[in-house]
Amino acid sequence: MPAMKIRPAKVKDAQSICGLINYYAERGRMLHRSLESVYGSLRKFQVAQADDGAVVGCVAVDIFWADLAEVKSLAVAPNHHGKGLGKMLVKAAVRDARRLGVHTLFALTYEEKFFLRCGFVTIDRDRLPEKVWRECINCPKADACDEIAMMMPVNEKVLRKKPKAAGRKKKKASKPLKRQRKRQRKTAKS
Ligand SMILES: CC(C)(COP(=O)(O)OP(=O)(O)OC[C@H]1O[C@@H](n2cnc3c(N)ncnc32)[C@H](O)[C@@H]1OP(=O)(O)O)[C@@H](O)C(=O)NCCC(=O)NCCS
Repeated sequence: MPAMKIRPAKVKDAQSICGLINYYAERGRMLHRSLESVYGSLRKFQVAQADDGAVVGCVAVDIFWADLAEVKSLAVAPNHHGKGLGKMLVKAAVRDARRLGVHTLFALTYEEKFFLRCGFVTIDRDRLPEKVWRECINCPKADACDEIAMMMPVNEKVLRKKPKAAGRKKKKASKPLKRQRKRQRKTAKS
């Protein structure tokens, strides 16, 4: 696989981001976005850049509230599918969410299996606050939305390495204690 770099989006990337998103919007996989809205939210975007400089993937993190943000506008160019790029972009979004102090990331998607592979879990849509659904006014499927809601806790406590198995660790005896036990064993034998 050619070297790929994930980096924060720059103004020069806006056209490519818009092109990627709208390629899938035309196929009913994502919501359409205008170039103006991409410029307006450019700071939320990270892009995947191929070694020839082309932007071949994008993702954004949109904060909703103190503890909730959405992974959105995730897209990988069709000729780059299946190379781990989508996962790399989601990881970059998770890092960004953690940097911002967000506790939970969610996604509304048709790509349930992909998000499961990225560590998300499927949740009941009712668990998301009403605020989340405001953008849906602009969606042609607003009344018959079939996107799947998925969630991932990203706060440090949850992402920290697994705690060691419960139970008390056997404490090593100190040298004087070892000597004392040795003496006791000797006297017990004699
Ligand atoms: C969804 C999308 C971003 C995945 O990107 P990708 O680069 O092809 O995915 P990756 O190669 O990183 O795949 C990561 C894992 O998910 C799995 N996966 C990816 N797409 C999958 C799918 N459609 N069904 C099942 N598994 C899938 C891969 O097999 C891989 O599994 P592994 O961890 O066992 O190796 C890409 O297909 C895309 O741009 N889709 C159209 C836009 C879209 O729907 N975006 C989501 C909006 S929320």
